[in-house]
Amino acid sequence: MRTILYLSCSPKGPASVCRTFATEVLDRLAKHHPAATVVHRDLAASPPPFVDADFCSAILNPQAPADAFPCSEPLIVELEQADAVVIATPMHNYGPPAVLKAWIDQVVRIHRTFASTPSGKVGQLRDRPVFVVVASGGWFSSPSPGGTPPQPDFLTPYLRAVLHTIGIHDVHMLLLEGTSRGPDMLRRAVESARRQLDDPLPAAVD
Ligand SMILES: Cc1cc2nc3c(=O)[nH]c(=O)nc-3n(C[C@H](O)[C@H](O)[C@H](O)COP(=O)(O)O)c2cc1C
Repeated sequence: MRTILYLSCSPKGPASVCRTFATEVLDRLAKHHPAATVVHRDLAASPPPFVDADFCSAILNPQAPADAFPCSEPLIVELEQADAVVIATPMHNYGPPAVLKAWIDQVVRIHRTFASTPSGKVGQLRDRPVFVVVASGGWFSSPSPGGTPPQPDFLTPYLRAVLHTIGIHDVHMLLLEGTSRGPDMLRRAVESARRQLDDPLPAAVD
């Protein structure tokens, strides 16, 4: 493993729960792969642009040159060059924050990262491990400890679906839930995420 792409999506800087835990994931990867370089793309600090009319027109042409996609192409190349990806994202209104959606719209591109075929969309990128650190104020994977029903989750299934679309299937979700419910719940969330990290990571980084 030579290159790890780290995408951070929280606007909260060092106070961000997902960013803070992502450093543990990156440390773990670095331990297994000391020579690996981390490329940090801070989507919150430098959000990708929303797709525009030129983009919408260019994707209609299967022969469109790479320079027809001045924002999309470098982001795709950066992803292609990564042997592993760490995405640190908050849940915002049951889904991805806008900056992550903007990145997805730039990299999930017909005729480039996926092909549309009669049997469905076929991913064009090689598979690689992706670790998604998700922080949410409440709970969505199960009821809260107090029994409140889980919230809708349009974040984790959506991320799996778009990554699968471009050929990436080795996706590991690391969940930190209940981050807004006080320091005790936050500590429990971090302990739970550490247990999740112990589970999938060694196999994935072999
Ligand atoms: C605009 C916005 C929307 C949010 N929507 C949700 C939500 O739908 N469900 C939830 O559990 N928490 C929600 N939260 C709380 C965040 O998910 C929580 O604070 C989380 O820790 C953010 O991650 P971060 O600390 O890494 O930024 C929202 C926070 C903001 C600012």
